[in-house]
Amino acid sequence: MRNVLLYIAASIDGYIARTDGGIDWLSSVEKENEDYGYGEFLDSVDTTLMGRKTYDDVRGFGGPFPYPGLNNYVFSRQEQGPDSNPVQHVTENPAAFVKGLKSQPGGNIWLIGGGQLNTLLLNAGLIDEMILSIIPIVLGEGIPLFGGHPKETKWRLTKHEVFDTGLVQVRYVAE
Ligand SMILES: NC(=O)c1ccc[n+]([C@@H]2O[C@H](COP(=O)([O-])OP(=O)(O)OC[C@H]3O[C@@H](n4cnc5c(N)ncnc54)[C@H](OP(=O)(O)O)[C@@H]3O)[C@@H](O)[C@H]2O)c1
Repeated sequence: MRNVLLYIAASIDGYIARTDGGIDWLSSVEKENEDYGYGEFLDSVDTTLMGRKTYDDVRGFGGPFPYPGLNNYVFSRQEQGPDSNPVQHVTENPAAFVKGLKSQPGGNIWLIGGGQLNTLLLNAGLIDEMILSIIPIVLGEGIPLFGGHPKETKWRLTKHEVFDTGLVQVRYVAE
């Protein structure tokens, strides 16, 4: 069975973006020759999952689409128009769709986010692991890591790494 891994950065107070979607605060931990394991992680997955709002932000960054070699799925309740990026737009229920994906042969699946999609998949018990990069900042408000009403679930810590920039990366598996 393929695993779904939520790999994401969050503020100390659990936000993944400012209220207006800004992620400028992530640059506070940028450091030359330090990717916090991102390259290795990217090589370990063959599929990505994004909510439509996250995808809009990825598109808005400009430049080439960042995950060209992967199977990329974007979830929306509405049909999307033609897209020049290598993504598939999905209007099917995300939990049912991801359950189907997990039962098919393939590699690991990166749940990119955002907060709405995270909660949908968390509540359906479909997230196997979380790799959270905690950025040393309190934002005070913003878009939560788990939007809406996440269910209480228990997680077991399997790894932690502390970086001199103040970023702490924790890895949890679902209990
Ligand atoms: N810090 C990080 O590492 C990180 C990582 C990822 C994302 N982000 C940020 O997170 C923000 C976006 O998060 P978000 O929580 O606002 O939105 P999101 O989860 O990315 O996307 C929400 C969208 O998903 C679709 N959706 C929600 N429920 C659905 C359902 N039941 N069935 C089908 N589609 C459904 C809807 O699209 P429609 O409205 O089209 O129907 C909804 O508007 C962005 O600012 C992004 O930059 C940060």
